[in-house]
Amino acid sequence: MREDTPIDFKEVQKQIELMSLSNVGTASIREIKRLVDNIEHATGERFVRMEMGIPGLPPAQIGVEAEIEALQKGVAAIYPDIDGIKPLKEEISRFVKLFMNTEVSPKGCIPTVGSMQGSYAAFLTLTRMYPGKDSILFLDPGFPVHKQQCKVQGIPFDAFDVYNYRGEKLRDKLESHLKKGNVAGILYSNPNNPTWICFTETELKIIGELADKYDVVVMEDLAYFGMDFRQDFSKPGQAPFQPSVSQFTENFMLFISSSKLFSYAGQRVGMMVISDKLFETRAEGLCRYYSSDMFGRAMVFGTVYALSAGTSHSAQYALMAMLKAANEGAFNFWEIVKEYGEKARIMKKMFTDNGFKIVYDKDEDKPLADGFFFTISYPGLEGTELIEKFVYYGISAISLAITGSERSEGLRACVSLVSRAQFPDLEYRLKKFHEHHPIV
Ligand SMILES: Cc1ncc(COP(=O)(O)O)c(C=O)c1O
Repeated sequence: MREDTPIDFKEVQKQIELMSLSNVGTASIREIKRLVDNIEHATGERFVRMEMGIPGLPPAQIGVEAEIEALQKGVAAIYPDIDGIKPLKEEISRFVKLFMNTEVSPKGCIPTVGSMQGSYAAFLTLTRMYPGKDSILFLDPGFPVHKQQCKVQGIPFDAFDVYNYRGEKLRDKLESHLKKGNVAGILYSNPNNPTWICFTETELKIIGELADKYDVVVMEDLAYFGMDFRQDFSKPGQAPFQPSVSQFTENFMLFISSSKLFSYAGQRVGMMVISDKLFETRAEGLCRYYSSDMFGRAMVFGTVYALSAGTSHSAQYALMAMLKAANEGAFNFWEIVKEYGEKARIMKKMFTDNGFKIVYDKDEDKPLADGFFFTISYPGLEGTELIEKFVYYGISAISLAITGSERSEGLRACVSLVSRAQFPDLEYRLKKFHEHHPIV
């Protein structure tokens, strides 16, 4: 390897040795974070940090102010209702109608401790409805923590990488899994973490139709709600709407996170939206664990009660205020987060101009949207090798291998923490990388 790298070669080697990392490429995200922190500290050089998926914007002020006001009024002393305060439930229902064109009554709109609690509760409850129908199917690549949630609960799961099954091809592949009869729910994120693919209408329709055919619940994770920036989703009550499986089946649950949408990750408040039909569904199997055989009741008074007895009272007021302002067209959250897409467009070009390829690059025949994440590879290198080399060039990212992707050459790059002021550094470092690694 060349030693005239942008970050001092010997210092990087020393820091790798100090951390006793035998292979940087296979280190965990947290280990890479620590290594990069150490190198930054030792060299005084700032890395282009693309490894962590955390919001890079300030929290929505409307939320902060509403939360402070609620605290001053004393809500901290009072337990909130398990399934959420009434005005928040109403705003969630309105939001889903205005931005997704989907009707769900407020009773199925439940605040959760981050959308992560929503998925945890869903895996737990869904897999107990029908004996034998006890597993989860992931449409990968995906967010590794979801699989961790199944693992810690002892819930079996299966997954496949959708890369080779886009469009109509998805039908046979998905059906081959559902035919087994053991799948209780399907989970995917849309837009997708880590690849930023967005399912097309054809694909969402296939998922919805098969969910009905095999009586399976679709869990749609909308952590990046509205962030397919190829379309303007910012106008309440006006098309286009956030695409969703809820247009094609009544067997759905939605997880809408406030973490990226409103840059509200720290307060751990998200939304779980249960379709009216699913809420009312009665399943004998639930009686083994709950006092009701009705899914919605089991979820609220069984699962959510047992997990946390509801969601932080003040954070519910914050969420309510942000949603209300968005619903009334007074707060354009979309214009704010669009910055992620603008940065991705510029950064992707820097990578492709320097020999890199975008691994997941299309939604059927359309070029992918620019957003929070994108995926990259470099000809002739495996993902693990690329991560290791990047450290010497002042760049950090994570391997797609941990996300259920079959594309082991790929890395996920997250744009959120990279400031525009760092773009010249990124460009210089990528140029050097390209120069040092000629493509044959
Ligand atoms: C796909 C996906 N789902 C869920 C989450 C977590 O959301 P929350 O912070 O609301 O728990 C994330 C956060 O990175 C994510 O990327």
